[in-house]
Amino acid sequence: MDIADFSNSRAAATDLQFGIWSPAETGFIPKIIEATALAFNSDHARWSEEYVRAKFIDGPWGPASTAIAIADDGTVAGFVSFGNCSLQVGDEQLKGGLSYHTFVHPAFQRRGIFSKLARLAVAHARGNGASILFNFPNPSSYPGFQKLGWTDIGTICSWIKPLDLPRILRVASASGAAASAFVPARASEESRDHLSRLASMEDALDPWRSNRRLKTVHTPQSLRWRLELHPYDYRLHASDGGLVVLRVGERRGLCEVQVLELFSAGNGRRLLCDAIDYAREEVGAQLLSMTASLFHPASVHLPLLGFVPMPNSVRFMALPLVPSTRSYATPKRWSISALDFHMY
Ligand SMILES: CC(C)(COP(=O)(O)OP(=O)(O)OC[C@H]1O[C@@H](n2cnc3c(N)ncnc32)[C@H](O)[C@@H]1OP(=O)(O)O)[C@@H](O)C(=O)NCCC(=O)NCCS
Repeated sequence: MDIADFSNSRAAATDLQFGIWSPAETGFIPKIIEATALAFNSDHARWSEEYVRAKFIDGPWGPASTAIAIADDGTVAGFVSFGNCSLQVGDEQLKGGLSYHTFVHPAFQRRGIFSKLARLAVAHARGNGASILFNFPNPSSYPGFQKLGWTDIGTICSWIKPLDLPRILRVASASGAAASAFVPARASEESRDHLSRLASMEDALDPWRSNRRLKTVHTPQSLRWRLELHPYDYRLHASDGGLVVLRVGERRGLCEVQVLELFSAGNGRRLLCDAIDYAREEVGAQLLSMTASLFHPASVHLPLLGFVPMPNSVRFMALPLVPSTRSYATPKRWSISALDFHMY
């Protein structure tokens, strides 16, 4: 098999080959798609080959650090991938890695394959210059990451604000809207038009300079890549307060706008107010929501602006790879939003 950095080691219970997936080796893509659909038991969300190439190989920060395990018959037995990202705190930038995808084929689970792949992918990311990795594990992968020394650094909370209470009460009492999940709308002419304006928005993507928390850096190119990878109905709303990235969808018959991230020159309150007006007046939404880490600069404003917490929350873990990033193993040092979380 033609895998770069091949370690040729063997799994405890079966003949498997472990290695780092080389960007040149695209022959595994159909097998990766097959195995991930089985592991997540979700054929309807089946990846396309273009998606795999765009996400893991052709990302704006270079190919992801991806470890794979291959069985004798060519089945992809496991896959752990950390995508590159650029992180910023104040004026300092550092190289980081975000966990992009983790699975072990159902026929190979509970044999230590995830653990071995994760070690390989971490070592590769470290060799590539990443100084800290972060991750949003689900309940299945959380214990495995914890065993490998990742630190739990808090939860990413979701908040929601009613924009049209009479309509919400009518729909909610009829169908239990509050308990149902958000369904994003597919990309529209309007969202494509919004994304096409990103090229001229470089300055708007460079705010939060006074923010002493670690956040992901975006360029027009990386943001466009990130949003086009998942082609939903995005809106970019620029105002004096900065730039807000939104996504439109519905929750059981109610139109909902999600705030994915704020790029604010100030503390974000003004921009959140602009987002409320935009969602109500331009989109006609009945709900506005935002998902963010506890110490995201906007989080402090959410309850004061009438947002209420939703019961779902996502766990957030980090793995410092060099001594200088050890101080980031605490929620106070991070500013994370749905723009980061949805990437996973
Ligand atoms: C999560 C997943 C990747 C784990 O892969 P794996 O190869 O079975 O994991 P390992 O054998 O290396 O186990 C590592 C540790 O994780 C924990 N673990 C793994 N599977 C578990 C399960 N089903 N229930 C509880 N703990 C589990 C255990 O602590 C285990 O250590 P132990 O065996 O020494 O007790 C695999 O179950 C999977 O692909 N699940 C479906 C896809 C998914 O949810 N991916 C994660 C997306 S965030």
